[in-house]
Amino acid sequence: MEWLTIPSVSTLPEHNDDVRRAAVWIQNKLTATGFHQTSIIETAGHPLVYAEWMVDATQPTLLIYGHYDVQPTDPLGLWQSPPFEPEIREGNIYARGASDDKGQIMLVIAALQAWIAVTGKPPVNIKILLEGEEEAGGEAIADYVSHNKEVLVADAVLICDTHMPSASQPSLIAGLRGILYTELHITGAKTDLHSGSYGGVAPNPIHALCLIISQIKTEDGTIHIPELQAALPTPLETEKSFWKEDPLNIEKALCEEMGVTDLVGENDYPALERIGLRPTFEVHGIAGGFTGEGAKTVIPAKATAKISLRLPPNYNTNEVFSWLKKRVEQLSPQGYKVELKNIHAGDGLIVDQDNHFFREAACALETAYNKPPVFLKEGGSIPIAALFDKHLRTPVVLMGFALPDDNIHAPNEKFNLQQFFMGMKTVADYLGRLRK
Ligand code: BES
Ligand code: MN
Ligand code: MN
Repeated sequence: MEWLTIPSVSTLPEHNDDVRRAAVWIQNKLTATGFHQTSIIETAGHPLVYAEWMVDATQPTLLIYGHYDVQPTDPLGLWQSPPFEPEIREGNIYARGASDDKGQIMLVIAALQAWIAVTGKPPVNIKILLEGEEEAGGEAIADYVSHNKEVLVADAVLICDTHMPSASQPSLIAGLRGILYTELHITGAKTDLHSGSYGGVAPNPIHALCLIISQIKTEDGTIHIPELQAALPTPLETEKSFWKEDPLNIEKALCEEMGVTDLVGENDYPALERIGLRPTFEVHGIAGGFTGEGAKTVIPAKATAKISLRLPPNYNTNEVFSWLKKRVEQLSPQGYKVELKNIHAGDGLIVDQDNHFFREAACALETAYNKPPVFLKEGGSIPIAALFDKHLRTPVVLMGFALPDDNIHAPNEKFNLQQFFMGMKTVADYLGRLRK
């Protein structure tokens, strides 16, 4: 709860000092836990936190990754209790970062603390790497990992930063989508204009923006970028039937979580496929013109949209950016200056399931929850997971304990305390299983 009071919002420069405070806080916690080797690693962006406890050269080494930064809290008015004043209500702890990802980092540390309390040390060699800009694209860690492979050498990576379908149904992540985050800037006249004197002849960048966006993704959810459509991966037969049958009734759960009666988008595809493997094109925000109270008759000179694409793991984000840019240029109406910026990008991942570390994770979940886990492709992105896979060439195990209604990135983010304890037990058991 103390850690959750620190507003480590990585994307907002006014919180830079808070992000650092959150890094130092967790470094101190790791030292207090018994890690003799801990450090704050400076980067071009927010710092990394590193800790290491090598217990025995004959034992395997597990690299644990998490992120201590959080998403912005707006709209603030919708929070029942302030986002950085954590509060426990009905078995949940409410705060920004409670689930994504401070709470999940803490359950891993609690599992380590349990081992240390009983046996004096962790059961296997542990390396911990925590980043402070995952929610903002994570440039720094990408750079660090590619240049410090020898420091991070490990037999497997464990990431607790995903969710499971329900409190009674554990899961392991089979894949993550990649992401490409862009900004579309459109300029018309050299200044804002009176909409009476110029309306009918002036360019309106907000309208141009809407035209472009609405032609790239049409009402049926189709994304009209030919190269993107041409490279779509074919799903495995096993996942196709799982998605179609939807035995966990996830389509219904999704409607309930969102508070809607119908799903929107590519309705010819099952929801799980649309979340796990299909690409997306989503507008996150549009700025421009007059949005204050009252009425102002103005034709804006500029408009901007923040747009991201989620991508199946086989796509190269730079290539996708060039396809999108080409499409935007084709669709740009006459008389406007249109510019597309690549803000950040991260690759997706297909998880290797055919290894000891993945299988033991499945056993640990089955033991704790008394039910075998399902293997699900996740819609969210954890850019560094793909880089661990690429640079360290070790199995990456994504075993998360968040619940679908945790409101991550939204108002009233929470983490369920029962899930915290179950996660702690599962990870403690998992660590024991890895010991030779
Ligand atoms: N923990 C999430 C990723 C996630 C969300 C995995 C839901 C599984 C289910 C992570 O913190 C996150 O939000 N990632 C960003 C990455 C982006 C900013 C590069 C995301 O997916 O938007
Ligand atoms: Mn996260
Ligand atoms: Mn997140």
